[in-house]
Amino acid sequence: MTEPWLRPVLTELPQYAPAPGLYSGAVPTPLSANESPHEPLPGISRAITEAAGAVNRYPDPGCHRLTRALARARGVDPGAVLVGAGSVALLQALFHAIAEPGAEVVHGWPSFELYPSLAALAGVASVPVPLRDGAFDLPAIGGRISTRTRMVLLCSPNNPTGGVISADALRGFLARVPPRCLVVLDEAYHEYVRDPAACNGVEFVSRPQLVVLRTFSKAYGLAGLRVGYLLGAPGVVSLLRKALTVYEVSAVAQAAAVAALSLQDELLERVAQTVGERRRTRDGLLAAGYSVPDSQANFLWLPLSRRAADFGEWCRSRSIAVRVFPGEGVRVTIGRPHDNDALLSAAAHWRQAVR
Ligand SMILES: Cc1ncc(COP(=O)(O)O)c(C=O)c1O
Repeated sequence: MTEPWLRPVLTELPQYAPAPGLYSGAVPTPLSANESPHEPLPGISRAITEAAGAVNRYPDPGCHRLTRALARARGVDPGAVLVGAGSVALLQALFHAIAEPGAEVVHGWPSFELYPSLAALAGVASVPVPLRDGAFDLPAIGGRISTRTRMVLLCSPNNPTGGVISADALRGFLARVPPRCLVVLDEAYHEYVRDPAACNGVEFVSRPQLVVLRTFSKAYGLAGLRVGYLLGAPGVVSLLRKALTVYEVSAVAQAAAVAALSLQDELLERVAQTVGERRRTRDGLLAAGYSVPDSQANFLWLPLSRRAADFGEWCRSRSIAVRVFPGEGVRVTIGRPHDNDALLSAAAHWRQAVR
């Protein structure tokens, strides 16, 4: 039987695959998805329950309350804020906004694994630029910008390696990028940064060329509700708004995000605990003989190259889900202290077993 025609890119695209067993309850130690290990604060649960009582109505398509709360919290004009169903939806809107025949996107690599897939889906050619000593090589990225480049994707802290772009490096880079090329700074893990030299995209968003992506999925603990936001120049934001689906952020997600912002101090205390655990876990892994680059996010990167899959399998057999990048390395999320203990114990035993 002849099948209906669908774009060949769909056959070629890899299917996103979560760690095995993650959604069947088989993994008591979930360290693969960079989520917050903390359950919602009572104030957030209450906001969710209240909003759930009105789900017969469509949500506010303009996310007005949340937009105003974000504008206040980040010190920007409400017109500079665009809310989406997770930063992935905003990334997709950005690709829709730049996709035209021959368009290219330049990004560091390895970086967030969905960048090349979203590009392919939008018909935009990816130009990956290898990291240098684990960090974004901004001069090399600048060198790959051509007349076809419509967008540059920077990620700080970078997923999966955890390194940051410094404020000085970003300033220098923005001064050199052609003004018609949009620069996207993905700061999904910004709240975990403790390096004083690291960039803070909010300080740069008055430039029409730059947009910053943030999310409620990590430090704010709302991964299950899908809500993220973009900050940029109001002229750019009002055009990007049209590239999003209407009603895409549910009323429950909007209410939870407003509540989370009002409880920011408590949530940031939890982030501080994760940062403490990050230090402890990294020290433990270093002591066990691993090479572990400094990470400013809620995960650590183990550059195990050809042994990555074996380490991932070893963890899986101990019911610990980690994210394996075959041939490159393994990313482990910082979890609750006992999750991190389980990881440290598995990692120490693996070293002994493979020695
Ligand atoms: C760098 C980066 N950007 C964006 C996202 C997507 O986050 P969201 O849950 O807001 O779609 C992730 C999720 O892991 C990420 O690591």
